[in-house]
Amino acid sequence: MVDFPEHNAESLEAWNLNSDLWDQVQGDDGNYWQRELVFPATMELLEPLPGSVLEIACGNGNFARTLARRGVSVTATDGSSAQLELARKRSEGLRINWLRVDATDRSALAALADAADTTFGAVVCNMALMDIAEITPLFDMLPLALELGAPFIFSILHPAFNLGPDVRLFAERLETSDGQLVEQRGVRITGYLDVGVQHGIAVAGQPSQQPYFHRPLQDLLSAAFERGWVLDGIREPAMTDGGEGDAYDRLSWEHLPSIPPVLVARLRHRG
Ligand SMILES: C[S@@+](CC[C@H](N)C(=O)[O-])C[C@H]1O[C@@H](n2cnc3c(N)ncnc32)[C@H](O)[C@@H]1O
Repeated sequence: MVDFPEHNAESLEAWNLNSDLWDQVQGDDGNYWQRELVFPATMELLEPLPGSVLEIACGNGNFARTLARRGVSVTATDGSSAQLELARKRSEGLRINWLRVDATDRSALAALADAADTTFGAVVCNMALMDIAEITPLFDMLPLALELGAPFIFSILHPAFNLGPDVRLFAERLETSDGQLVEQRGVRITGYLDVGVQHGIAVAGQPSQQPYFHRPLQDLLSAAFERGWVLDGIREPAMTDGGEGDAYDRLSWEHLPSIPPVLVARLRHRG
């Protein structure tokens, strides 16, 4: 199961309530995760840069602005009106077409190409599928908005290593057979195959918890494959090692350069 329609209203309400804090954390150009992991991998998979891009769940518009500054014609959508309002405010002078679109609403997705008066050279959805209650409407309807063979690129919390609110990073001291003490750090995974909804926070101090929708890779990708998409690009970006720090600091993704917290994938529809 990949769809949880009964949680969509709750999710959008949480994103409305948390929009101010999300906007502060993201700033104009995205936070550290976006700039270090998400944008470089997404840009690589987008090459050659298309003339027009549709963005789903654009948040405060960080990636839409990045594309618009490179001359791409961007239509940026989100289901949260509060996020869109903040995105618009930050983007004065840039030619971005902002639309409120609930990504679970099939008729709104079907109308996208008409609303923008064009089909798009790519669709991007950054760090949002795990926040979107239903994903099959996107897989069903996006082909209508895309030029034939154009890519759909999405980034998400890595479903195998960064399972939303329950992620557990650990450090262990290992004594090797020749008496060396070695520190090993990693991620402890439980419940990978347990599809479902959990509640948590994306940013410390946010006013409302949000639902997370964990979908193991076989479920997430099968939902796309069954609807005619093929996977033709993938990146698993990890942080560069943050160096020294105290024990608590070192239990962070910045100190796990061999484990990717984010997955970025490129799909194309067979037509
Ligand atoms: C983690 S934020 C990512 C935002 C932005 N792409 C970024 O990378 O900063 C998740 C976004 O998904 C949006 N979202 C959640 N459910 C949605 C839905 N049903 N339709 C459209 N957007 C939705 C939220 O409003 C929020 O902006």
